[in-house]
Amino acid sequence: MQILDGQATSQAIKDALKLRVAQLILEGRRAPHLVAILVGNNGASETYVGAKVKACSEIGYKSTLIRLDEETSEHKLLSVIGELNDDLSVDGILVQLPLPKHISDEKVINAISASKDVDGFHPISIGRMVQGLSSFTPATPYGIMLLLEHYKIDTKGMHAVVLGRSNIVGRPISILLSSNTNPGNCTVTVCHSHTKNIKEFCLEADIIVAALGRPGFVTADMVKEGAIIIDVGITRVADAGKKSGFSIKGDVDFTNVSPKCAYITPVPKGVGPMTIAALMKNTLKAYLENN
Ligand code: GUN
Repeated sequence: MQILDGQATSQAIKDALKLRVAQLILEGRRAPHLVAILVGNNGASETYVGAKVKACSEIGYKSTLIRLDEETSEHKLLSVIGELNDDLSVDGILVQLPLPKHISDEKVINAISASKDVDGFHPISIGRMVQGLSSFTPATPYGIMLLLEHYKIDTKGMHAVVLGRSNIVGRPISILLSSNTNPGNCTVTVCHSHTKNIKEFCLEADIIVAALGRPGFVTADMVKEGAIIIDVGITRVADAGKKSGFSIKGDVDFTNVSPKCAYITPVPKGVGPMTIAALMKNTLKAYLENN
């Protein structure tokens, strides 16, 4: 069994981006600029956005964090996005999800200029990705593909079972894994809350991508010997032993599943850091295409 080390792989990608930015600066160009918008006080969102801003500073990107309070109107948020769309000094815009209930995710995602959509959530980005055209790929699925690529895992012809069909992870990773790319070229089954016999599908899987947000859902009796396990779960579970009062749990019972696998991502330090590396790659792509 080999651990797919998302932390080290993410660092390697960030190191390469840092060199690239240093080169741009030497050429007299400005640094790429990512703007993150955080609405409200969701603790997990604070952590994720903090990690994104920190990665920018490590690499040498400029970042701006716009904090808006929980009561911010949808109209106000849309007008902030409009200004950023028109601002030539801004390359990438991301609005951290989830948003407060009174704001429509759909309207907000649609309002971001497709050329600055570094999250890859805009219908134009998704449509281009589905068609196999150059696009911004949503960061978590993109990070998973980068991790498989880094470890030179040949997924051609494999049966991949994706657990979850969210717009952020399950749906897009199912598209990417079935694409005519390397990694890719898998036969993909998408399982969701109405799937009967999830265990039987999982037992047939060469790759399982678990993205349901249910801690420990994938148990050893659901996994074939030699399978590749990608754990996207990041649920906060109360833990009195931790200073923060919680620990982060994946969707996979790592202790019992890992001995059966060929490869497995840990939680933390698996897919999470890869999401950040993928966002940083998308930010450079936006910069290079718009400048
Ligand atoms: N919430 C959970 N994942 C993501 C992500 O990749 N981007 C944004 N903007 N919000 C998220």
